[in-house]
Parts: sequence; C-alpha cells; structure tokens
Amino acid sequence: MPTSYAHLCNRDEASSEYDRLKNSGLLNQDLKPMPYGDKIAIPVLQGNMKIEFEEVQRSNPHDMLSTILTNPPKRWEKLGDMVIFPQGTDTTNWPMKEVAETLQANRIGIQNEIDSGPTRKSQLELIHGSDGWVVHRENSVEYEFDATEVMFSSGNVTERRRMGDIKTEGEIIVDAYCGIGYYTLQMLVRGGAEHVHACEINPHSITALEKGLARNDVTERCTIHPGDNRISMRNLQGIADRVILGLIPSSMNSWGNAIRCLKDTGGIIHVHMNVHEDELEQWVDKTTEWFATASGKEASADHVEVVKKYSPHIIHVVLDLEIRNPNSQ
Ligand SMILES: C[S@@+](CC[C@H](N)C(=O)[O-])C[C@H]1O[C@@H](n2cnc3c(N)ncnc32)[C@H](O)[C@@H]1O
Repeated sequence: MPTSYAHLCNRDEASSEYDRLKNSGLLNQDLKPMPYGDKIAIPVLQGNMKIEFEEVQRSNPHDMLSTILTNPPKRWEKLGDMVIFPQGTDTTNWPMKEVAETLQANRIGIQNEIDSGPTRKSQLELIHGSDGWVVHRENSVEYEFDATEVMFSSGNVTERRRMGDIKTEGEIIVDAYCGIGYYTLQMLVRGGAEHVHACEINPHSITALEKGLARNDVTERCTIHPGDNRISMRNLQGIADRVILGLIPSSMNSWGNAIRCLKDTGGIIHVHMNVHEDELEQWVDKTTEWFATASGKEASADHVEVVKKYSPHIIHVVLDLEIRNPNSQ
C-alpha cells in the first residue's frame, strides 16, 4: 500500500477537517482517510508522520467487472469488506476471488428478501468467504454484525444520520427496537446522549450491539433489555426524554408503553410506520390525536421524515411527536 503524510483528527471532526484540507489544497486526493487508533488519519501532502493508506478507486467498478464477467450485475451494496448482490444474480462460473478483489472486498453474499417476521432475520447467503461478521463504518460509527443473521438496511442511512445529528446531551433515551444499534450507536457516539435503554428481542442483534458498543467505546452509557419490549418497557416508566419506535410496517404495539416511558413532563417520540403515500397527512393527524388522547397531554407533530420508498406507493416515514404536560413548566 502507498504511504503518505497523515493528519490525525478526532472522529467527530473528520468530515470538517477533510473539507478544510481539501479547500486549502493540502489533501492527498489519491488516498482514502482511515481509522487510526481512536483518531481518523487523513492523507495530506506535507506533515510530520507517514503511514500506509489505501488508494482511491477511480475507475468505474462496473467497467472493471466487465473485464472478468460476461454479464456483470449493475447493482450491489457493500457492508464492510463484504459485497452483496441482489437476489437472482446469476453467479454461475464466477471467479469469486477476482470479483471480490475488483470490488475491493474479501467476501461475497447474495441478499435474498429479508424475512418479514418481527426479528427481520437476514436471508443473506454467503457465497465467497468464511463467515458473515462485518464491521461497517457509517457516519463516524462502526457497526459490527453477522450479515447472515441480522438485517442492515442501507436505505435507512439518512435516518441513522438524522438521529445522530440530534444533540441529545443529558438525555435518557429508550430505543424500543434497537436491533444492532442502528440509532442507539449514532445517538451515543455523535449525539452525546447521556444513556440509552436499548430493547431487543433477537439474540443475534444483541450480540452485535454488545460488540458495537464496545468497539465505539460507549458500553457504559447503554443498558440492553433483552426480550419482548411489551415486557421490558414496563420497567422503564417515567424515565425517558425521547423514545424511538423503529419498527416497520408498524410500531403500534409499543405506542402505549412509549408514552409511559416518557418523563411526566413529556418528551419526543419517533414513530416509524409504513404509510400509503396518499394517506400521509391523515395518518399524521390521526396519530398525533391518538397520542394526545392516550397520554392525556398535548401532542404536536414536529416533523415528518420520509425515509425511503418501501414498495410501490408505500413509504417508510418517521413522525417526530412532541408530548408536553401542560401542567409542568
Ligand atoms: C427492523 S429492525 C430495526 C431497524 C431499524 N429501526 C432501522 O430503521 O434500520 C427492528 C428490530 O426490532 C426487533 N424487535 C421486533 N419486535 C420486537 C419486540 N417486540 N421487542 C423487542 N425487539 C423487537 C427486531 O428483532 C429487530 O432487530
């Protein structure tokens, strides 16, 4: 691997430092920034220390695949060092090692449809490489999980970033469907949340979350509540400033418990739902009204985020609801 001078910075400053170095002409644009201990190393043209960096791949990966496959797929996603092709991709006679190397990966998977059951079991089939554990970096957070056991929805990237962008210093948060820590890790690492109570029913996701918490050095600020949140949330009453209900097609089963988790003064609830695109406004009004009635407090819709198109005419949305106790200051 090529060496270059390195500029070290904290993870939360990496994006702004990258832009600053680029604008001042100091960035070595041929190489990729990378983690360096608890810092990020950005390749620069001058400095005091030199380390090895990976090269930026400039040629079109599809064109490169065409040199080794007769009919290369047009789409794929990458999770860590695993490249994942969609269901139905014909991989007969593929030179697996070369395909992986061309896409700068070590392993290859085929993503069959995610199980629609409550634990959202991944149906990823590994066709090259030995195990499904990946470390996937996104928005300054490193997620660690077995891609053959649990889902990672690349389409929810904007929502993960949005949750991490919220300044949550001093907040106690209940993440009712935490999975591998999609939002929990963002809120601890980037948002600065004081503590997250993370509820999760799938043991594979819990193992992944434990590893992710350790890897991001935030274990102390998270309590995992294994099992069905219809039971675990009952022990979290009156403690939360914010509750995340990240389950689609619907998180309705936990609406009542989410209200009970909030502090008496109120707080924010992020309600995920799959909604028909023509019915969004009515759903927002009806849901806001439901939360006001059920909580006996004031409820207002602060924001509606469209996360992604789920299927024709059905969109995955998140309603940010503010619940206020009119009797508290
Ligand atoms: C679809 S995943 C979360 C996806 C994430 N919110 C996102 O947008 O990328 C939902 C998680 O909720 C968990 N889950 C489903 N029902 C649950 C329940 N009753 N109690 C606790 N966890 C549950 C599943 O195991 C899964 O890890």
